[in-house]
Amino acid sequence: MAKISTTKKNAFGFSRIPDDQIYDFERTYGAHHYGRLNVVVRKMKGCWLTSLDGKKYLDCLAAYSAANPGHHHPKIVKAVTDALKGNYASVISNVVYTDVLGTFLKKTATLLPQLGLRFGKNGNKVLPKNGGVESVETIIKLARYYGWKQKGIPDGKQEIIVFNNNFHGRMIAIISFSSTPKYKEGFGPLTPGFISVPFGDLDAVEKIINKNTCGILVEPMQAEGGMYLPPDSFLKGLRDLCDKHDLLLMFDEIQVALGRAGKMFCFEHEKVVPDAITLGKAISGGIVPLSVMVTNSKLMDLVFSPGSDGSTYGGYPLACVAGIAALDVIKNEKLPQRSAAMGKILKKKIIDIANRSPHVKEVRGRGLFIGIEVKNGDAMQYCRKLLELGMLANDSHGHTIRISPPLVITEKEIDYMVERLEKVLVD
Ligand SMILES: Cc1ncc(COP(=O)(O)O)c(C=O)c1O
Repeated sequence: MAKISTTKKNAFGFSRIPDDQIYDFERTYGAHHYGRLNVVVRKMKGCWLTSLDGKKYLDCLAAYSAANPGHHHPKIVKAVTDALKGNYASVISNVVYTDVLGTFLKKTATLLPQLGLRFGKNGNKVLPKNGGVESVETIIKLARYYGWKQKGIPDGKQEIIVFNNNFHGRMIAIISFSSTPKYKEGFGPLTPGFISVPFGDLDAVEKIINKNTCGILVEPMQAEGGMYLPPDSFLKGLRDLCDKHDLLLMFDEIQVALGRAGKMFCFEHEKVVPDAITLGKAISGGIVPLSVMVTNSKLMDLVFSPGSDGSTYGGYPLACVAGIAALDVIKNEKLPQRSAAMGKILKKKIIDIANRSPHVKEVRGRGLFIGIEVKNGDAMQYCRKLLELGMLANDSHGHTIRISPPLVITEKEIDYMVERLEKVLVD
């Protein structure tokens, strides 16, 4: 048998190290903090992933929405490689200016409508970080400081209302208000100052508001929590409560913005504009980590001054270059509109399957963010079968198959996906 080169680059990606050895490396040297599906992805392009044996998998996960423009989108790759070759990519202290950070901030701030309109038409300002959870921490700082400085809540007593089944990331402050025991067991002491109520229950929100409440943090559509849409008028009700009680309304759109749910921002479905928002994942086109917290300039200037926040890599040149290119691609290639159109076609086909399937409990979603809840509560059982058939999907909250392909997916690729869903859910 011909000897397999373990180092030589080849058509399949970085190396030809055999899959079994890669599994072994991960088991021996890596933390076991993810349950993995059995595939070693060597190459990713557009909507497709390739393994060493050349087998292709349709990516129906898109890295939890990070790969919205498709893997290795040529315009984003060119921007990033130009920056590396042109020596304007590496991290440099935020103590100096860079043209790419300024350009990225402007692009992001002006992509959004005026946030926090009740604070005036001051424009928006952006605080960049390196990943979703960091920006959620930043938005929490915004609300707490606002509560203290502006509303006179004693420091340490500020409370933020959150929702059961939320998912905002995995660091200590954030897991402190998760309703999933596994996320927080053994990691105490946890961070106080969060009150969780059922998603969609406006009465519960109103009852819990008190003199120490400074804000409400919500996903306009729950993602990891099982892909739930808010009930009609829920977000509008939250907006009214925030205006009435002088609270900051904060949307976490890290997974559902930038086209994923069929609009540039998910909140556009309800025409309810928050005071502040977090974005991440797709904002850098899936090439480098980047996230942001955006708010009304007046609020940003009230809360953040030199020393009150910072991050070595937050807003570093390579991330900004990727961010500028990714936002251009999402806008110029009309990916939100594409997500809405393709999502409509796909959802119709999935509902047809669901109507004939003994396994499906419910189909829900918006744009190319569609959840298929299964009756036995074990979505991964179906995802493993889908993988064998050449399609990558995973679960949301255990019970729901998450369908969230890159937004550049074609009708032909949708048919490929539907064929496989049919095999696994009906045949
Ligand atoms: C709504 C939401 N917020 C925050 C996060 C955390 O983002 P990250 O994993 O980049 O820290 C996620 C991740 O899935 C998310 O879906």
